[in-house]
Amino acid sequence: MLSFKGNDLFIENVKLASLAKKFGTAVFVYSKSQILSNFKAYQDGLAKREGLICFACKTNSNQTILKILSKAGAGADVTSGGEIFRCLKAGFEPSKIVYAGVGKTDEEIEYALKNKIFMFNVESIEELYAIDKIAGRLKTKAKIAFRINPNVNPHTHKYITTGKEGTKFGIAYKAVVSAYILAKKCPNIVVIGIHSHIGSQILEIEPFKIAAQKIKNLVDEIEKNGIKIEYIDCGGGIGIEYEKSQKAPAPNQVMNAIFAIFGKDKKFIFEPGRSIMANAGHLLCKVIYRKNSGGQSFLITDAGMNDLIRPSLYQAYHEILPVKKTNAKKVKTTVVGPICESGDFMGNDRMLPILAQGEYLLITCAGAYGAAMSSQYNSRPLLPEVLVENSKIQLIKKRASYNDLLLNEVSKL
Ligand code: LLP
Repeated sequence: MLSFKGNDLFIENVKLASLAKKFGTAVFVYSKSQILSNFKAYQDGLAKREGLICFACKTNSNQTILKILSKAGAGADVTSGGEIFRCLKAGFEPSKIVYAGVGKTDEEIEYALKNKIFMFNVESIEELYAIDKIAGRLKTKAKIAFRINPNVNPHTHKYITTGKEGTKFGIAYKAVVSAYILAKKCPNIVVIGIHSHIGSQILEIEPFKIAAQKIKNLVDEIEKNGIKIEYIDCGGGIGIEYEKSQKAPAPNQVMNAIFAIFGKDKKFIFEPGRSIMANAGHLLCKVIYRKNSGGQSFLITDAGMNDLIRPSLYQAYHEILPVKKTNAKKVKTTVVGPICESGDFMGNDRMLPILAQGEYLLITCAGAYGAAMSSQYNSRPLLPEVLVENSKIQLIKKRASYNDLLLNEVSKL
């Protein structure tokens, strides 16, 4: 929901420059309409089937964002006790929470069971036994799916490839049927599904299809052993268009390709994260200095890798836009943050107008894995977050203070 009106860049009906002045920079800004329309694309995709759209809340776990999605009918995909806590606080029904993660601790399993979450996506036999034991102690039953590793290449960055053999995720393909047979024997386990999440920022439909076909083959085998699989949890992973040259599949294209593989008796779970939040949020920052050095033209901004780590960690591309159109000459520019690391950059070799100190830039599509992955590195307080809906502006997270930097530190000196 970004658009130029005259020379000014707007998010919905709010001028970005005015948000920068009101809240200071750097600041994350989100569009509520974009979040809801992204979510609706999944709801519409699932309209003719039974199941759940579980927002992967690791993407963005701000309470207001979570409340928007839970009110819209979303479930949640969580990955820690902390995420269960946040989701319950935000009003998600426990019966719509699915819990994946390779390292669930006993305490987290107990917390999840006591709060009656819908399903554990179990990633190892060791975890299966831990859940069975704890459920027994709590005199309850745990509903589970195994997260399986279908050994599919999603053609994405290595760090966000999860469904290939050799990664730490899921049960190895060949071991899946025997895992289900073991689960059937566990007194406090109820098998209800099968889960796979092959990776993130996937721009092709094919890997999803291949994974679904492999899941289908397993389901047939598992069901031959008298174990009913009710839910097919397809994970998340649909990519977005960070660059104009990219083309991302629409949710219904991926969903229909998956539905076509299974019979009508199955229910489906999808766990989108990025495709709900990425293009609904942006990082608004300010040019602190421009600097020419070693033949390079740098713009130094007040947003750094501690605020948005994706360029540094995954060499990710985020389009960078001045919030005001100008006729100034464009030069090849490297946009960097103030952190004391050469890996602290927002964009390399971008053709940007020669901007002056104090002008504002928008680092786009930072609503997913932006604030959620931010840190206080270099003792930089966490950024504020602002939600826009039409012309309405709401501060949904305050800027942290210097005092907050010391929170929880204990000093006896
Ligand atoms: N389900 C599971 C089990 C996951 O592990 C993930 C993401 C998702 C769903 C959501 O995937 P999405 O729809 O967002 O692709 N920090 C990285 C992305 C890490 C993804 C981790 N798992 C990045 O900034 O690119």
